[in-house]
Amino acid sequence: MCGIVGYIGPRDATPIIVNGLKRLEYRGYDSAGVAVLNGDQIEVRRDAGKLSQLIELLEKSPIDGAPGMGHTRWATHGAPNARNAHPHLGQTKRVVVVQNGIVENFLELKDELTAEGVEFQSETDTETIVHLVEHYLATGIGLVEAARKTFNDIQGANVIVLMSADEPDKIVTARIGNAGGVVLGMGQDENFIASDIPAIMEHTRDVIFLESHQMAVVTRNTMTIETLDGAKVKPQVHSISWDPVAAEKGEYRHFMQKEIHEQARALTDTLAGRVDFANGKIRLPDLNLTEELAKKIDKIYITACGTAAYAGMVGKYLIEKIARIPVEVVIGSEFRYSDPILDDRTVVLAISQSGETADTLAAMEEGRRKGAIVWSIVNAIGSQAMRVADGYISMQTGPEIGVASTKAFTAPLVDQYMLAILLADLRGVIDEKTRRQLVSDLRLVPDLVGRTLEREDDVEVIAHALKDIRDCLYLGRGINMPIAYEGALKLKEISYIHAEGYPAGEMKHGPIALIDEHMPVICLAPKDPWHEKMISQIQQAKARGGIVIAVATDGDEVVKGMADHVIWIPESPWMLSPVVTVLPLQLLAYHIAALRGLDVDQPRNLAKSVTVE
Ligand code: AGP
Repeated sequence: MCGIVGYIGPRDATPIIVNGLKRLEYRGYDSAGVAVLNGDQIEVRRDAGKLSQLIELLEKSPIDGAPGMGHTRWATHGAPNARNAHPHLGQTKRVVVVQNGIVENFLELKDELTAEGVEFQSETDTETIVHLVEHYLATGIGLVEAARKTFNDIQGANVIVLMSADEPDKIVTARIGNAGGVVLGMGQDENFIASDIPAIMEHTRDVIFLESHQMAVVTRNTMTIETLDGAKVKPQVHSISWDPVAAEKGEYRHFMQKEIHEQARALTDTLAGRVDFANGKIRLPDLNLTEELAKKIDKIYITACGTAAYAGMVGKYLIEKIARIPVEVVIGSEFRYSDPILDDRTVVLAISQSGETADTLAAMEEGRRKGAIVWSIVNAIGSQAMRVADGYISMQTGPEIGVASTKAFTAPLVDQYMLAILLADLRGVIDEKTRRQLVSDLRLVPDLVGRTLEREDDVEVIAHALKDIRDCLYLGRGINMPIAYEGALKLKEISYIHAEGYPAGEMKHGPIALIDEHMPVICLAPKDPWHEKMISQIQQAKARGGIVIAVATDGDEVVKGMADHVIWIPESPWMLSPVVTVLPLQLLAYHIAALRGLDVDQPRNLAKSVTVE
């Protein structure tokens, strides 16, 4: 969602901010702007559309100086136009603000401010913030106290950055509520503020994460962190080791394509340090899972949104099969409203690439409120979902930039497989031979993934055949049923083709009515325990004239004899097969979208981190 970058130091702020915002483009946005202190005046440039438009504007009308801040906005209140774009100046033009989130009580605040004579220039909720700050400044207090009072007046989950031309030695920022992050980057005689690490990674690796209900006053040489009530906070400095090259597209046309191809490496990384192949053991130290705790668990709720939720559905199969613990998957946006039955024997396991998804965080909060054990599987290091959990598994895949999630889908499949083995081992429900076999199978993963991805050209041929379709059905069973959902989601989100994922056995209960000679049906038919069942499903689709594209295991003559097209995958242990079957579906969606000339990495209406409910 919205991206924020702030800079204070001796250099000109504009290029630092613009480059930082570029690194945050993956979060999705529909307008952008910067505000920089030039001499004694705050100057603002902002426009609707992509950063390239803002850059053009800055070329025509540059701003020198520092400090400064920039913002990419994903519209919630008011249309995505230049007037509503951030930053927002106050009436005096001496204070400027950017915000990520929603000021939930903005109508009330706006009424109060309007009654005082404030004239709003935009339709945004954010504008209330700057007017409130000015309202408090007018009482004679300084910027920090005016900001603190304002932050305390605001209801919602917000990140705010503001500065004043009258106190040019500081930027003030706050994190109110849980959604969205604030990273403070520590430089030499300069400091940075951002909503995510990639924005400032080229300048510093030493960062501080603001917690919820904290604010920071950032000068060139200091960072003072307090709670919104004024209690001093001793910051913890984290050193980030990501390679900046990992955030670049490199040889690929799109980040999504790069991230698909990174999966062999990403899955090696997710295994790193966790697997003891010699003894057939799994270690997940950050989960804080003891034998006592493992034996106490009587139910696991997996909660997540979108792709992460489909990963959780695969996790249900794995944990129930291997560790024999009942698992329920509840999507994040429903969890807290379903009044789940939770206690200290229940685990709430959240899965999230960004670790910032508002609905997933709210589900974790519900788990916390009801006394459950709260775990997370997260990619973004230091994100909220990682920090608030009792234990976590880091995906260790590096930043995912493409809005369509790929490597952050396969990593949690492997993470949940490892978790299932560890739980089974600690609960004593797995014999040594089976455990050793399951652990040993993990060795195969990077190679299986690499070999499947080498077949990209074959998938591209099918993409050419399908690029003009209007609808598509994806069918799968058992552990590969969620892969049908994920394949359909990938296609619809980046190619805008209507696609449905369905449990193949359900087809005859309704969706079969859709099948005719215009309907491609993608059937996941690897050699897994549901293989025979999938063969009958393929026959049913063929009998109605559907165009069947099967994903099948090398050498499967039966499927070959029935399907119109076959996407071949190497044979894999069935519990790890979803890691392989999803790859051609990612590639298919990617190539169809690329052939249609669409913006693969930033599809319309979508954001990488969905930080609003
Ligand atoms: C993935 O392709 C989607 N864009 C989306 O469903 C995403 O997986 C979902 O919003 C959850 O995000 P998270 O993993 O960051 O929590």
